[in-house]
Amino acid sequence: MNNVVKGIILYVVGWAAFHYGLFPLMTPKEPTWIVNRYVYFLLFVFYCIGFNIVLKLKPPIALNGLAVWLLGLYFYKAVLYPPIPWTLLITYMMLWTIGTFLYISQDPKTFAEFRSPIVKTVIGEYKIARVIVFISMPLLVAAATYKSLQPSFQEPVELRTVHPAPPATTKVHGKSYTLEGLQNPFRVDEQDNYVDGGPGGSALPIEGKFPFLDADKHEYMKSITEGGTIFFENCHYCHGDQLNGLGMFSHVFNPTPANFIDPGTIAMLRESFLFWRVSKGGPGLPNESTPWSSAMPPWEEHLKTEEIWKVILFEYWYTGWHPRTFDEESSAAGGEE
Ligand code: HEC
Repeated sequence: MNNVVKGIILYVVGWAAFHYGLFPLMTPKEPTWIVNRYVYFLLFVFYCIGFNIVLKLKPPIALNGLAVWLLGLYFYKAVLYPPIPWTLLITYMMLWTIGTFLYISQDPKTFAEFRSPIVKTVIGEYKIARVIVFISMPLLVAAATYKSLQPSFQEPVELRTVHPAPPATTKVHGKSYTLEGLQNPFRVDEQDNYVDGGPGGSALPIEGKFPFLDADKHEYMKSITEGGTIFFENCHYCHGDQLNGLGMFSHVFNPTPANFIDPGTIAMLRESFLFWRVSKGGPGLPNESTPWSSAMPPWEEHLKTEEIWKVILFEYWYTGWHPRTFDEESSAAGGEE
């Protein structure tokens, strides 16, 4: 077999074996000993030098130059860690190209040897090579240009603030409310201790008894029941009859209706925040909560103030979450994503 062909096969097959076989072994998922990668690369370089010496291949200088150039490309693209941006890659590869070229042209003899196939292709006897080169080059450039100009259809990567900072005050039905410290007037106990409780609000659950069955005996359960009615009259179309955000209309909206079961929504918010959100809806959101507009209606136009409070009460009761309170240290409902 021709030495050139032998060399190319050993180089390509060797590279595949190193890259797909040895490299993953030497670079486990957790970066441990980072020098591993460079030891690996040196091993590959030794392998390349090794088979050339052992088999006395003496490849033509142009092929040698190409092999060295590809080694550099491989190093910067796959071995060097952490990966570098492509602008830096181009800079490094330009330096690497200049270095390779200096190595080839250092001596008039090797340079002439390097030049000869090129000259023969451009103006000499390599006619088929010339045809291939002069047809494929413009095609490659055209393909690259086409690829770079082709528009991509991805969504803009703008971030939307899901829980913007609420305003200091909000005006609902002509009355101004300061959100800081604002409580749900229908909440009796912040930890809902009496939810499953016995008479008189004791924390002990009564076996086999569901509190909503005697809603008329508990002021709190009465509010919850009313809130539930309001919810199923107005909200479940979007927020779902299990409050999981999967109502029958939910699928057409972006952003999708909030899932109240999810720990990332009402569980981490204060009732005053909900009061503001439910009253003002999507139109009341500040700009940071765009670019998509929320379909959440401004409920102050349809519900009375106390109905808004009751439906909020119901959402917490149904999901089992407790609202954030004002004495908790970490600030709630402020700029969380
Ligand atoms: C037309 C569909 C629709 C209806 C009906 C609707 N909502 Fe919404 N709601 C949304 C969408 C969409 C969002 C998410 C975007 C946003 O935060 O505005 C949302 C968000 C919310 C949030 C904010 C949750 C959070 O994590 O910030 C609350 C609270 C809420 N809705 C309560 C209600 C209540 C109470 C009702 C009924 C009185 C209701 N919604 C009815 C569509 C709807």
